[in-house]
Amino acid sequence: MLIQLTILLLSTTCAIGNHFILINSALSDFLVIKGSPTGWRIVNGTDANIEDFPFIASLRFMDSHSCGATILNNNFILTAAHCVYRYPTSLLSLQSGLTTISSGFNAPNVARVSKIMVHENYTGGGGYYYDVAVVKLDTKLTYGPTVQPVVLAPAGNATPENAPATLIGWGLDKSGGSIQTHLQQVNIVVYSDDECEKIHAQTGPTNRKFNICAGVPEGGKGQCNGDSGGPLLVNGVQVGGVSWSIKPCTVKGYPGVFSKTATYVDWIYKQVADNS
Ligand SMILES: *[C@@H]1O[C@H](CO)[C@@H](O)[C@H](O)[C@H]1NC(C)=O
Ligand SMILES: *[C@@H]1O[C@H](CO)[C@@H](O)[C@H](O)[C@H]1NC(C)=O
Repeated sequence: MLIQLTILLLSTTCAIGNHFILINSALSDFLVIKGSPTGWRIVNGTDANIEDFPFIASLRFMDSHSCGATILNNNFILTAAHCVYRYPTSLLSLQSGLTTISSGFNAPNVARVSKIMVHENYTGGGGYYYDVAVVKLDTKLTYGPTVQPVVLAPAGNATPENAPATLIGWGLDKSGGSIQTHLQQVNIVVYSDDECEKIHAQTGPTNRKFNICAGVPEGGKGQCNGDSGGPLLVNGVQVGGVSWSIKPCTVKGYPGVFSKTATYVDWIYKQVADNS
């Protein structure tokens, strides 16, 4: 199993100049966490509380955090396709309702996964579009102050260009960096569609229909491994899901790339309806 995962990981990595493109993969997260102290964080984030973001949850691979996810309703979550593509449901689970996540089979608030719906157009490692998946849980979540459904951007909503945005997650604090288990948040900015496509013309590509870019012009703030699948929020509404970024994480000049929620929202709710 592990050997296969390593090969998959390598197949999604390629060098461009001094930078590495690496899909913010659950696989790489898993390899990084091995032998490391517990914990994850966004680059240059600050401590966040789950009460302020009760719709985020930790998707786990083999009982350790691998990706971010958001709660669609008490039985379904949204994440990135690359977090679950070709993964056996039996190795995935979800920990919800906690600011501080934990690993292990007997950790609190863990639901197992019963079904994975990856977007039918997603093409696996190196696929830059359709990086979206809906996952069904085998038990229903109980709503409360720390567990609530997310609000998704409406279908066809334009990119909120230049809007202040918040990214939350438990991912790494930098490429190969130190990690912690406390939920992190960071304030970044949504790039214009023109800038997003121009910046990532060689390193992506990105496409305004499928992607949003967000970061800060000076770099040093944003997503890293382990944040994949987690939400980019504008005014509390999810407008994107973490998809990939140029490495090292948050390198200046290359904002993070997100799946554009407004393009996929009809598909997302169709999966929920068809599998309920
Ligand atoms: C999948 O891709 C095809 C070809 O580009 C497109 O026509 C179709 O609408 C896509 N499916 C969905 C659900 O977006
Ligand atoms: C965090 O922000 C500081 C100050 O802006 C910057 O010097 C540093 O490089 C950033 N950390 C990372 C890992 O990018």
